[in-house]
Amino acid sequence: MLPKINPTQTTAWKKLQEHFAQNDFELRTLFQYNPERFKQFSVQRENYLFDFSKNLIDQQTFDLLQNLAEECDLKSAIKSMFSGEKINETEGRAVLHTALRDFSDKEILVDGENIKPAIKRVLNQMKNFSENIISGKHKGFSGKQITDVVNIGIGGSDLGPVMVCSALKHFKTRLDLHFVSNVDGNHIAEVLKNLNPETTLFIIASKTFTTQETMTNAASAKDWFLKSGTQKDVEKHFVALSTNTDAVKDFGIAEENIFEFWDWVGGRYSLWSAIGLSIVLSVGYENFEQLLKGAHETDVHFQTADFKENVPVLMGLLGIWYRNFFDAGTYAILPYSQYLDRFPAYLQQGDMESNGKCVDREGEFVEYETGPIIWGEPGTNGQHAFYQLIHQGTELIPADFIAYVKSCNVISDHQEILLANFFAQTEALAFGKNEVEARQDLEKAGTAPEDIERLLNYKVFHGNTPTNSLLINELNPFSLGQLIALYEHKIFVQGVIWNIFSFDQFGVELGKVLAGKILSELKNPEPVTSHDSSTNGLIKYFKEKN
Ligand code: F6P
Repeated sequence: MLPKINPTQTTAWKKLQEHFAQNDFELRTLFQYNPERFKQFSVQRENYLFDFSKNLIDQQTFDLLQNLAEECDLKSAIKSMFSGEKINETEGRAVLHTALRDFSDKEILVDGENIKPAIKRVLNQMKNFSENIISGKHKGFSGKQITDVVNIGIGGSDLGPVMVCSALKHFKTRLDLHFVSNVDGNHIAEVLKNLNPETTLFIIASKTFTTQETMTNAASAKDWFLKSGTQKDVEKHFVALSTNTDAVKDFGIAEENIFEFWDWVGGRYSLWSAIGLSIVLSVGYENFEQLLKGAHETDVHFQTADFKENVPVLMGLLGIWYRNFFDAGTYAILPYSQYLDRFPAYLQQGDMESNGKCVDREGEFVEYETGPIIWGEPGTNGQHAFYQLIHQGTELIPADFIAYVKSCNVISDHQEILLANFFAQTEALAFGKNEVEARQDLEKAGTAPEDIERLLNYKVFHGNTPTNSLLINELNPFSLGQLIALYEHKIFVQGVIWNIFSFDQFGVELGKVLAGKILSELKNPEPVTSHDSSTNGLIKYFKEKN
């Protein structure tokens, strides 16, 4: 079980508070007086470099954060997760997405049963199925090959596969993947518009197979299909990924078309499971296996590396430093890779659904901040949208910059320009431009003295905005697996230290229940008076105009 330690009661936390109050953590000064800073605060691994030297820390901060991890018993928490203890206490479940990517012979037990054979069985099923589809051996009802695959799912049954399929576009098979998640009928309408039922395969991805959005979209997809094919043909065109086999069979999907997974795989950690079938179809089984192996490499690093050079541990601790001591409410994820365009959105669920909690592991309300708001967009686009606020706004926004050294597509000097922007932004954010420098620049530009005085403050960049830089040698399935797992474990580290349960998501329930009640009211012609005046008014307007 996870330790139950209030982090604010630890010696390290109290010392961090004092340390925070007594220092100003000026990056200019910290770099100026320590030429070894980059060496001291970076970790170079076989295929990536993690540079955390542009953080508002000194050696003492680093040591105290390490002490915090020790005092919160992070080591035993990591062991508990990997060994299959039911650390998701509020749902009574183990947390074993890591087992899905462990190809070793080591047994992993859940309720006394080794789960490895079942994982292998489903992986083989995914392999065989995908090979039949990709090779064209599997034919649709009219004898044609499948050309398009539509994954219908939402949240963890969508965001991970969408992100990975986008990231690995360069490794794409001949199949075209489409994703329908929103219950807004426009989403499925736009996807189906250009598809042919004879050559389309639907994947209904839902752990519970009860999610309103997914069930509604699945039913509409089936209606659309049945305009051309018969009920019997459904088996050639619909498969399901779920833990709820009975509900899948009730929907009309044949047993052999069910790809199983288990309750010890959390939705937002499920891309490694059968939920990854769309990824397998998109990039082929071998590449999927590489993705799993990359994630496993990070799992081993996380379990074995000293915390001083353990990248997910460092990422987690630095995040806590900003959230709880600098009161930074948001955290930006800024990938300098168009292929990672969905990475921030994916991490929003991963992080915020995990650590957006206010009750600790003793059942008490916490008296400190927990998960920050996660947001971001790929660079360089973000530079032309929201970087203004990061450079000159009033909020401290720590950020992760992520880029690949080599480009998958070498076109003139695009890659150098991209990386020049990455390096320039982290430099500018760290060191800014002070008043003296701003004045010099204005003078050099020949600005009139009275204009210099008028413009000076606008031209100052406060700097001292902390960033991590993650430079990965190249984008491939293995390195993507490593990257995703780094963030999964960062989230775990923070959840352990904040003394919260990171693997449940009760916060999504209330809205779902209310929506069910309101749906029946929307379908009923009677006036609706059962809510507050605002909700009643909105419903009335909708019913009148609909
Ligand atoms: O948003 C809540 C949630 O339960 C997520 O955790 C999950 O990823 C998503 O809904 C989809 O659930 P399912 O796979 O059961 O349809």
